[in-house]
Order: sequence, then structure tokens, then C-alpha cells
Amino acid sequence: MTPIVFPLPGGEALAADLATLAGWELGRTGFRRFPDGEASFRLDPLPSQRTAILAGALDDPDPKTVALLLMAATARELGGAPVLLVAPYLAYMRQDISFRAGEPVSARHYARLLSGAVDALVTVDPHLHRIHRLEEIYSIPTRVVSAAPLLAAWIKAEVADPFVVGPDEESIQWVRKVAEAAGAPWTVMRKRRLGDRKVQVEAPDLADFAGRAPVLVDDIVSSGRTLIESAARLSEQGFRPGHCVIVHDLTSAEARDAVAEAGLSLVSVDTVPNPSNALRAAPLLLPAIGELLAL
Ligand code: R5P
Repeated sequence: MTPIVFPLPGGEALAADLATLAGWELGRTGFRRFPDGEASFRLDPLPSQRTAILAGALDDPDPKTVALLLMAATARELGGAPVLLVAPYLAYMRQDISFRAGEPVSARHYARLLSGAVDALVTVDPHLHRIHRLEEIYSIPTRVVSAAPLLAAWIKAEVADPFVVGPDEESIQWVRKVAEAAGAPWTVMRKRRLGDRKVQVEAPDLADFAGRAPVLVDDIVSSGRTLIESAARLSEQGFRPGHCVIVHDLTSAEARDAVAEAGLSLVSVDTVPNPSNALRAAPLLLPAIGELLAL
């Protein structure tokens, strides 16, 4: 029987995209919140004996995760079939270490929560840094999709003589893949985070890239400070920074204004709905979903 794709809150476009591309049924949830903020929904059709695919980004994770847990539990109760989570943006991955006694390793706790709620997970470029593979923290089958080919294709098509710049050493994993696929040289800067909205970025000597157009690449933009500081270092060495190509755009309107005021334009994958979305995740996600459905 064909799966039913149910949108998580905010995941309506992604769920529709997946259902259309794969020929699966698009379910309805009628999701709303009671005046006190609690979640209300009704799965329609009932997922009796059919795999339920819950689709949507987990940005703004705290309210969305409770909705996800309730939907997954309901689908399991009514379905008797696997529940698969397609969360192109996976939350809490950056808190992968306890920096000070008493702080949670949220990535691990969150993984345990989701592993108990659904039967399999597909995501796009999770922030793997000190945790190297999702299998280290998730106990369910997972698939990770790389958005590098999308980012690389955009750079190839839109920027003449690019060089790819990552804002910190963590970004090497994305920057190298994107640059190689775009046939462009690359480098990374060094970043020190001083606060939620304060970072210090140092650039290496960029003389070798003279005459080329810098493209800043990162997995996540949130406050925008990382990109703004990185762009300032590029300007100091005579480059005109303009393009930032990002996987997950978590910016608020305020952060977007700050990025635009710095003369930067954001291009992102639609893993999180945002005005910068120019690249489509659904076609990349389908093969990974297919693999999990075949298990
Ligand atoms: C974390 O290290 C990520 O790779 C990003 O660099 C970071 O989340 C960007 O955050 P912000 O836009 O707030 O500087």
C-alpha cells in the first residue's frame, strides 16, 4: 500500500512536494493550536496498515517537536505500520558537548526522544561536528542526504570564477564537497564564538584567490553574525563579498535585514521555509526515503 505523507506544522510545501514527486497520498492534519497554545490535529485519512511519512523541518523545535511526538504516537496507534520522519532540518545538533558542568548534550537527548517516537529518519546535512555520524546517537535507521550537489550547481551556474569560503573549521566538510563539485578552489576561516550574536572570525592570507569571486558557504545561518564577520574579513583583503550559499536558513526578519545591510545575499535550500529558498530538497530526499521504506 502506498504511504501517506502528513505535513508537520510548517511542512505543508515539503509534504506536497514529496507526495507529488513520488505519487504518494498527501494526508491532511487540520493542524491548529488551542488558544492556550496546545496542539490539535486529526490525521485524515487514517493510516491503517499504511506507512505514515511525517514531513517538515524542525526549526523552532520546541513547539514543533511536541506536535511531532503527538502525530507520531497517533499514527502508530492507528496505523500498525512504520512511521517515518522526514525532517530536512534536524534540530539540536549543535549542542553536541557539555561545555560547562550542568549543560545538556542536547543532541544526544533529543536523538533518544525521536528514536522512541518514530521508526526511521531522513534528514539533510545535520550539523555533525563532535558527533560524527547520526548512528552514534540515533538508535533507529537513519539516512543523511547531502545538499552539496545543489549548492555546487547554483555556484557553477551563477558565479563566474568563484572561490568557496567557509567561516570556520567545522565547515570544511561542506565547503570541500561543494567546491570540488563546483570545480572551484576553497579555503576556510577560523571562528571563535563569544556569544549568541557575537563571533570573532580570522581569515588566512587570500592572495592566491585574487581575481576570483568569493562565495561564503555554511550549513546554517541563524543570527547572520558568522556570515557578516566573514564578509568583513574578505573585504579587508580587497574582495567584494556578495553571495552566501547556505543549506539551512534559520534567520529571523531582523537577522535577514542585518545580512542584507552588510551587502550579502542569501541563497538556501528549502529545508526550512524562508525567503532565501532557491534550491529544492525533495528530489534529493526521495531516494533516501525509498531506501528506508524498503527495509
Ligand atoms: C555553527 O557553527 C554553524 O555551522 C553556523 O556557522 C552557525 O550556526 C551560524 O550562526 P550565526 O548565523 O548565528 O552566526
